[in-house]
Amino acid sequence: MLIRVVTALPWEVEADALGLPLAAEETLEGELGALDQRVDGRLSALHTFGELSGKSDRTALVPTALACGPVVVAGIGEADDADRRGAVRFGATVERRLGGRRVRRLAIWLRAPGGRAIDASTRAELVTRGVVEGSYEPAMIYRESVETAPPAIEELILVAPGAADPAALFAAAERGRIVGEGANTARTLANRAANDVSPAVLADEAAALAARHGIAVEVIHAARAAELGMGMFVAVGRGSDNPPCLIVLRSGDAPPGDGRLLALVGKGVTFDAGGISIKPAERMSEMKMDKAGAAAAIAAIVTANRLRPGIPLVAVVPAVENMPGPHSTRPGDVVRALNGKTVEIDNTDAEGRLILGDALTYAERLGATHLVDVATLTGAVERMLGKQVTGGFGAPQAWWDEVMVAGVRAGEPYWQLPLVDDYLPDMEGWYAELRNSGGPEASLARSGLFIRQFVTRPWVHLDIGGSAYLRRETPWSARGATGVTHATLVELALAGAPG
Ligand code: BES
Ligand code: ZN
Ligand code: MN
Repeated sequence: MLIRVVTALPWEVEADALGLPLAAEETLEGELGALDQRVDGRLSALHTFGELSGKSDRTALVPTALACGPVVVAGIGEADDADRRGAVRFGATVERRLGGRRVRRLAIWLRAPGGRAIDASTRAELVTRGVVEGSYEPAMIYRESVETAPPAIEELILVAPGAADPAALFAAAERGRIVGEGANTARTLANRAANDVSPAVLADEAAALAARHGIAVEVIHAARAAELGMGMFVAVGRGSDNPPCLIVLRSGDAPPGDGRLLALVGKGVTFDAGGISIKPAERMSEMKMDKAGAAAAIAAIVTANRLRPGIPLVAVVPAVENMPGPHSTRPGDVVRALNGKTVEIDNTDAEGRLILGDALTYAERLGATHLVDVATLTGAVERMLGKQVTGGFGAPQAWWDEVMVAGVRAGEPYWQLPLVDDYLPDMEGWYAELRNSGGPEASLARSGLFIRQFVTRPWVHLDIGGSAYLRRETPWSARGATGVTHATLVELALAGAPG
């Protein structure tokens, strides 16, 4: 997708369609009035009729005889509430509204209704990212064509009448394109079926991406993982014929002295049947998404390197299939973690924390000074926060706060959950120092406590059990994997790196 920034008036731009943001209760005056005149008052007629309400995510397609083609009016809600997430959604909503239409050149009017919104460069970046993310169609992964798919845009024309610095808008939009492409890469990795993406295939995909972007890759196979002492990780992989592997991606030189090395750790369960503690049949197919954290971590190190080649960063992905079988780990089995702690596996379906524990220990051994793990860890987080907010834990608080700054920049919302030490006694096993589950009481709070047993440095855990995928489409997104946390991880990596 080529990007062009033009400073001309929107109706003078040659395009196949023009996206137009409209705020709630906005009147058609000034620049909008000028456009209305050129379409013989059709906009004001629709406005009076109630078709153009400006309410969030409401859209209307208005045919015109102008060079810019039909106008796609997308509501953005209250002008005062305009935020980064809204800018991404606006771009995505316009693109998806054009599903099934023939659009090669899409113009978007970068106006800021109310004028109080985010600055022009940020808007250019986030709207472009939205168009790229909105163009994503998961039904295309295993099909040649999909009639209603959002159009493949060859040229995105950002219309900023009279802009002082179009070059800055262009650079920002390019950044948005790259972040959007990274999110889509993550989505495809997560959306692909479990018979297609085994742990070995996930490693191959990671290696192929790494090779293209100057990132070093190392794959630790099951035998080596056992030798190293990753007892929790190896235990989860035992039930499957598809052997587990730990994928390690590394970019940049080791930071000098006390420099920061951020590790992105992603849960890569290519399918979670639950193991011997098998899941019910209902919705079990969704558990191919249990590799969404891995997808985000892999895509994020790639995106960070596209934006800043050679940035010091490591990604660690424990990839494994959690299956029942004659070789599976049984409830009650006791294993030794890489950090030496003994763990009683009382529920084989609480496998995420087991593989993350060993992966986090390993990331510290690689020299990580700061850790973020991303995981579809619990169903409980969806019951609490739904699909639009990601829950998380972190310590110390300053590190959580730093990750949240990146989250705000990325336009991704989070909610902090407490690490309650009073629940620690419930995490003790009878035979081992720890147990991996322990009943439904405070299960969400305890998931964070368990993982914390395996880190000694600043650490944040993001539970995307709800936010990783949608069961139905929205005006701004297809159903399936969302790519959530990818943009946050990229912002975090770039903010903490020198240069
Ligand atoms: N991958 C699941 C969590 C999950 C479930 C994510 C549904 C998204 C949708 C995880 O491995 C799991 O099974 N968690 C258990 C933990 C319990 C056994 C302590 C859960 O949430 O039920
Ligand atoms: Zn799982
Ligand atoms: Mn599970």
